[in-house]
Amino acid sequence: MTNINVGIVGLGRLGKIHASNLSKQIPGCTLVAACSLFAEELDFAVNNLGVTETYKTYEEMIESPNLNAVCIVSPSGFHCKQIRQAMDKNLHVFSEKPIGLDIEDIEETQRVIEAHPHQVFMLGFMRRYDESYKYAKQMVDDGELGELTIVRSYGIDPSEGMESFVKFAGNSNSGGLFADMSIHDIDLVRWFTKKEISKVWAMGKNAAYPELDKVNELETGAAMLQLEDKTMAILVAGRNCLHGYHVETELIGTKGMLRIATVPEKNLVTVMNEHGVIRPCSQNFPERFKQAFVNELKEFILCIQEKRQPEVRAFDGLQATKVALACKKSCETNELIEIK
Ligand code: NAI
Repeated sequence: MTNINVGIVGLGRLGKIHASNLSKQIPGCTLVAACSLFAEELDFAVNNLGVTETYKTYEEMIESPNLNAVCIVSPSGFHCKQIRQAMDKNLHVFSEKPIGLDIEDIEETQRVIEAHPHQVFMLGFMRRYDESYKYAKQMVDDGELGELTIVRSYGIDPSEGMESFVKFAGNSNSGGLFADMSIHDIDLVRWFTKKEISKVWAMGKNAAYPELDKVNELETGAAMLQLEDKTMAILVAGRNCLHGYHVETELIGTKGMLRIATVPEKNLVTVMNEHGVIRPCSQNFPERFKQAFVNELKEFILCIQEKRQPEVRAFDGLQATKVALACKKSCETNELIEIK
């Protein structure tokens, strides 16, 4: 099989993980180039990951004649333009979520992607590549839960990451809590139900961290969604989880229900001591989705080699962002928002 040469843009919280996976864990590819605004991140890529080309600008990186593909892990507001630029250079593209923060920009990007059908485009909805979510999806598709009636899904970041999040939100536009966090839950709702979301009502509250007001971000948000066939979804997103990283999903159907990571256990260890019976928790996204991040990039490289497109398409990114932005609007206006 052809070896795929990859360039990565963004070596921050998640970029370092993707870069390390591409250079050490994913068969069939070589991480040859990296782009970041920060010299120390580029030094890390050269010294620790064997990257041979480093760039301060993305435009320079995609001019490199040595690339077959790019992995976009820059701040969310750059994704659309960087996807289009790479597509126009005949490169395959993996982009982190959200695909973009503006619907017209995403639609234009989707058109560019569709105009290049022989290049692979994949979006980083990594929960679809997590073993537990895949197991649950198979059960749903096999009809074991009957017809789904309610999906309940939580994504709450650890309060321990607050300092780094405030820095991230201060440096760039995250898109807000719903586009940054709930986007994964929104994708799960669409993935499990195979239905589109038609109405949302959302709200939010800041209580423990007033510094979030300064960067115009929510600490906790909740949304109720109605799908086109009247299936319901309830989402909770947040940045103040004291016990670790809480990602939990519940599916209720006419024949049964299931829960995924209802208690976000780190592993199978239970500690019994003077404090009681303790289950250590998963602490952050790199830990909880370690294998899913590897799995999704393996799939990206395989898709290029096998000349096929992955399951997660630009359209999924567009639909999820539409819902996330509707949640933001609902929260700001206190109105029920219909999604066209
Ligand atoms: P970060 O702020 O830690 O790092 C951003 C990186 O992008 C830095 O290396 C910076 O040098 C680079 N950068 C910024 N502006 C640039 C520009 N104009 N040109 C080239 N490089 C530029 O960000 P973080 O947390 O790593 O997030 C990056 C993306 O990954 C975001 O879109 C975020 O939504 C997504 N993400 C997804 C997660 C998931 O669960 N799938 C988890 C965390 C982040």
